Parts: sequence; C-alpha cells; structure tokens
Amino acid sequence: MDKYYVLGNPISHSKSPRIHGLFAQQTGQKINYESQLVRPGDFENVLRDLQARGVKGCNVTVPFKEQAYTWCPQKTPRAKWAQAGNTIRFDTEAGALLENTDGTGLVRDVLQNAGFTLQDKRILLLGAGGAAAGVLGPLLDTQPAALAIANRTSERAVRLVASHRAYVNALAPNTRLEALPWAEMATVGAFDVVINATAASLGGEDLALPEHLFLPGALAYDMMYGPPAAGFLDWARGHGAEGRDGLGMLVEQAAESFYFWRGLRPDTAPVLQTLRAELSV
Ligand code: ATR
Repeated sequence: MDKYYVLGNPISHSKSPRIHGLFAQQTGQKINYESQLVRPGDFENVLRDLQARGVKGCNVTVPFKEQAYTWCPQKTPRAKWAQAGNTIRFDTEAGALLENTDGTGLVRDVLQNAGFTLQDKRILLLGAGGAAAGVLGPLLDTQPAALAIANRTSERAVRLVASHRAYVNALAPNTRLEALPWAEMATVGAFDVVINATAASLGGEDLALPEHLFLPGALAYDMMYGPPAAGFLDWARGHGAEGRDGLGMLVEQAAESFYFWRGLRPDTAPVLQTLRAELSV
C-alpha cells in the first residue's frame, strides 16, 4: 500500500487523514494516510526518513510550509511564487517535488462550491503572512478588478505586493494589486469579497475592522473553520455579508494534493458534506 503523511505541529486536530481516507474509498485507491507530529528542528530529518522508507508523499502544514520550500530540490511554479508549499511528491527523478495547493483550493471553493465569481470583482485580502502568500497567485488568476492586501504590519503587505508585481504584469494585467495600510482599508471603497488570512483568532484577538467594508451581496471568507472562524464570520454576517468558513478550502486543497499524487480527481461535494456533518455533532 502506498503511504502518505501530513506533517505539522500541532497535528492531532488535522482532518487530512479523514479527508484522504474518504477520497481513497471513493476512488478505490489503495493508500494509507496518517498524521505525524514533528518537533521543531526535526522537519528535515523526518522528510529524509520518509523518503528512505519509500513513502510516496506528504502534506505539510503549520509551521513547516516555508521549510518545505527550502528543503525540496524541485518546486512547481505555484510553490515558487508562494515561496512555500503544502504537498510533496517523493517519486520524481529529482527526489522530491513541492507543490502548493492552498490557493487553488480556496479559489475552487469560492467559485464552484459557493458559486461566487471573482472576475472583475473587488477583493480584499486580510493578512500578509504565509497563508496570504499561499493563495495570492491563484486569486490573481481569477482576474479580479482589484486585489487589495491589508496587513497590521504594513511593510509585509508592501513586500507581498512587490513580490507579485511581475506575476500581475504577465498574467493579470487588468488587476489593480495594491497594499493598504490596515487603518486605510476602507478608504478605497467597499469590496465584493473579503478574505481573512490572518492568524488573529488563534491569538484570541478580534480583528479591528471598519464599518462599510462590504458591497451588497458580498462574501466574507475565513480560511479557518470551527471556533477560530466564528468571530470574523459573525461580524461579517452582522454587517450584511454572506459568511463562509475554510472547510471547503481544506477539502479542495486536499483534492488537489490527491490529484498531484494519484492523477485522479475525487468528487469533493460528498466529502465536504460528510465533514460538515461530523463537525456539527
Ligand atoms: P500564517 O502562516 O498563518 O499566515 P504568519 O506568517 O505568522 O502565519 O502570519 C500571520 C498573519 O496574521 C500576519 O498577517 C499577521 O499580521 P502581522 O504581519 O502584522 O503580524 C496577522 N495577524 C496576527 N494577529 C493579528 C491581529 N490581532 N490583527 C491583525 N492581524 C493579525
């Protein structure tokens, strides 16, 4: 049986083994997928060990996505733009190929599962850390009219925008990509889609957001799910937006990883439905 892992710290909460188990069942693929807690400093040793044991691939989650980028000898363009990755395939000639499926997962969930369009829309991305960097390329691929990045520490948003200037010029020339100081995020007009890619809720903090952030019919998206997503989504619903958590993104990024490893696309809808039901009990 081909073996796969998800590596992270913490990891016990991870739904990835459940999701990939459901994908395997659905597609008839004989795979074994488990989670492994990795101590800080042990990440590269663990990767070498998995490789030596003939493991076929792994997912990488917080806090190792940037270290995966440093370690992997080969990266897809998607991983290169994000300078981080969440999926490694060990069976290539190069030894290990890194992919980043987070952004594709987010965009698929918004377009296909939530039924929103992003083309020609005004998007606000909150945060400029690893989570935001991981989704920026695929968001630009949807050709929004504007993509503004607001971060508590402005310089980080400025750097993220600068690092994607060439991407915009080549692939999204009609998109206005800009960094906005946090305090000025509503000064350029309201938005159709506001995506929370900050880690504020993990620190038990509420985001300080202005009134009038949403255009009519707006979508508020939190990349987390469960209690950490509740604060932002409750606030957004109270201000007229439709709220959506990141459970669909989690399932969709997993489906992209599964495809990267196995060459098969699982049907995500029943898996998302199962997870949603399990989360509500
Ligand atoms: P991740 O990989 O989850 O993105 P990260 O790279 O540490 O983790 O980034 C965390 C993000 O959450 C950053 O954008 C951070 O803002 P700063 O760059 O100013 O630190 C953001 N963040 C964390 N707590 C926040 C808060 N209370 N309000 C607003 N943004 C917050």
